[in-house]
Amino acid sequence: MSYFPAELIKKKRAGRTHDRRELEFLVNGFVAGDIPDYQMAAWLMAVYFNGMTGPETVDLTSVMLRSGRVLDFSSLGRPAVDKHSTGGVGDKTSLILAPLVAAAGVPVPMIAGRGLGHTGGTLDKLEAIPGFRIGLSLDEFKKQVDSFGAAIIGQTAEICPADKRIYALRDVTATVESQPLICASIMSKKLAEGIDGLVLDVKHGSGAFMKTVEQADELATKLMGIGASHGKKVAALLTRMDEPLGRFIGNAVEVGECVAILKNEPYLGRAPSEFADTTELTLELAGAMIWLGGGAPTLEAGRATASGLLTSGEAWEAFAALCRRQGGDLDRLPVPTARVEVKARASGYVAAFDAEKIGLAAIALGGGRLKTTDTIDPVAGIETHRKLGDGIREGETLFTLLGSSSSGFAQAEAMLSSATTISLQKPVVPSLITRRKVP
Ligand code: URA
Repeated sequence: MSYFPAELIKKKRAGRTHDRRELEFLVNGFVAGDIPDYQMAAWLMAVYFNGMTGPETVDLTSVMLRSGRVLDFSSLGRPAVDKHSTGGVGDKTSLILAPLVAAAGVPVPMIAGRGLGHTGGTLDKLEAIPGFRIGLSLDEFKKQVDSFGAAIIGQTAEICPADKRIYALRDVTATVESQPLICASIMSKKLAEGIDGLVLDVKHGSGAFMKTVEQADELATKLMGIGASHGKKVAALLTRMDEPLGRFIGNAVEVGECVAILKNEPYLGRAPSEFADTTELTLELAGAMIWLGGGAPTLEAGRATASGLLTSGEAWEAFAALCRRQGGDLDRLPVPTARVEVKARASGYVAAFDAEKIGLAAIALGGGRLKTTDTIDPVAGIETHRKLGDGIREGETLFTLLGSSSSGFAQAEAMLSSATTISLQKPVVPSLITRRKVP
């Protein structure tokens, strides 16, 4: 069936509903190069403003899923699981999760993404490890999951090419924050992995695409519904992203934070206890993954298993082995050579962070991309010296800017100078995990 793309853009602009054939025409035409970027961008903006119905979102997900291969891990004889986050600042949990959950006997075939908007991406972090190959062939990927239990790769041309292309276009056309587009993006690529269970980290707050807990809850319900309609078990944690997770934001420095947690040793002068929020979220997500994958009878038991693997050092062994298998040399993880401190301009308590601005400042330093063709400085990033609710005096250090040179420091410093609210009253800081939604 053929349509005029401009007519379909007009239809969505008018807030009407597409049928599945129209979505197939748009998505498949875009992937094939028949529909140009400017028409797809206009359609995405129309979706951004007018949304999609539930069944339309399920159709979009299935059309995107079928744009490439769908993997099958049934030969493993055990349920395979994965986790996906809706995107945050300093969120490095995936790096630990894949090997940790595999060490609990639950296979994790993880296809990860790059940074999107102000948020970081697992692939960019892994690529900061010299030699790490995120470009395994699908055959190598399957073999590693089979023999080792976990592998992390980037999206290939064969897996969900529609998401790969649409994701890149959304990133540069201000059309990321749309619930149906987020749902179809996340679920199409995760369903293509051939997993049986998925744990979602649905973030809300100043550094998330969903700013309120209500929006995050609605998104989680929709994502879980799409999973269920494809016969998958999906659990969701709603988590606070109103401050960067952990202490480091960037690529190599986030890997460094993970290694510190796994080895229980300091990183760049910070004790592992200072990464308590990263550790807590990782263990919660791991517990849910282990439970969904049948490795523990309850969520709590899954968390206890994950915690045991972390303290025994088995999670570290698994992480180091995963890096080795994919060619990564952790001994050569680069460290920042240039640094500048950003000081507090008032005394009081940290009452709020504009985490989105902090993510954008990390990009200005070279830790992320403004255009898909930009190259990343693997050691660029930010160290946060205070968490929400901490006290600080005027002139004390709030952030340290990190990099291989001081290029971008002035712009990042200007951005960070208005990224924190300091108040005289100590704020009440809610718990990191806001809600747990289970299938
Ligand atoms: N993560 C994704 O994979 N896609 C989105 O659209 C947003 C977050």
